[in-house]
Amino acid sequence: MTTEPKRVLFVCLGNICRSPLAEAIFLHLIEQRGIADRFIVDSCGTGGWHAGNRADPRSIMVGAKNGITVDSIARKFDQSTDPDGFDLFLAMDAANKNDLIDLGVDPAKIRLMRSFDPSTPNAPDVPDPYYGGDNGFDKVYEMLLSSCTGLLDSL
Ligand code: 4NP
Repeated sequence: MTTEPKRVLFVCLGNICRSPLAEAIFLHLIEQRGIADRFIVDSCGTGGWHAGNRADPRSIMVGAKNGITVDSIARKFDQSTDPDGFDLFLAMDAANKNDLIDLGVDPAKIRLMRSFDPSTPNAPDVPDPYYGGDNGFDKVYEMLLSSCTGLLDSL
């Protein structure tokens, strides 16, 4: 029996800091586990200011430091195809989650990213590191690594 690949979309605001890093970490983990063919993985932003751009250099750098290539190109959430195009939406924070609901995604398909982080019982947000220093990106990397590992273990 063949099963359809699970379609997973990581979502933040700009699609240049958090969600491309989450996407790259998840891709790395599924390749490491030899299960890449079971998933279709993408990321996007609820806003389109950075559409067409590479990820923020600080996300690319924290990935590289940890052996992970962050190479996605930013895109805006597409209201006409994305709600039905994915089985699972991973929102980086509560505002992203609410925006996805407003944009027509079935709430049953949305999870907060850190609901899969075993170190945090209350699923807090993955904080937006855009206006902070590089240290923020290290913290975000650690949160995303635990969350992606927890997510994968739950699937
Ligand atoms: P992200 O961070 O949502 O993690 O990609 C942001 C990047 C850019 C902006 C906001 C958040 N911005 O307003 O330009």
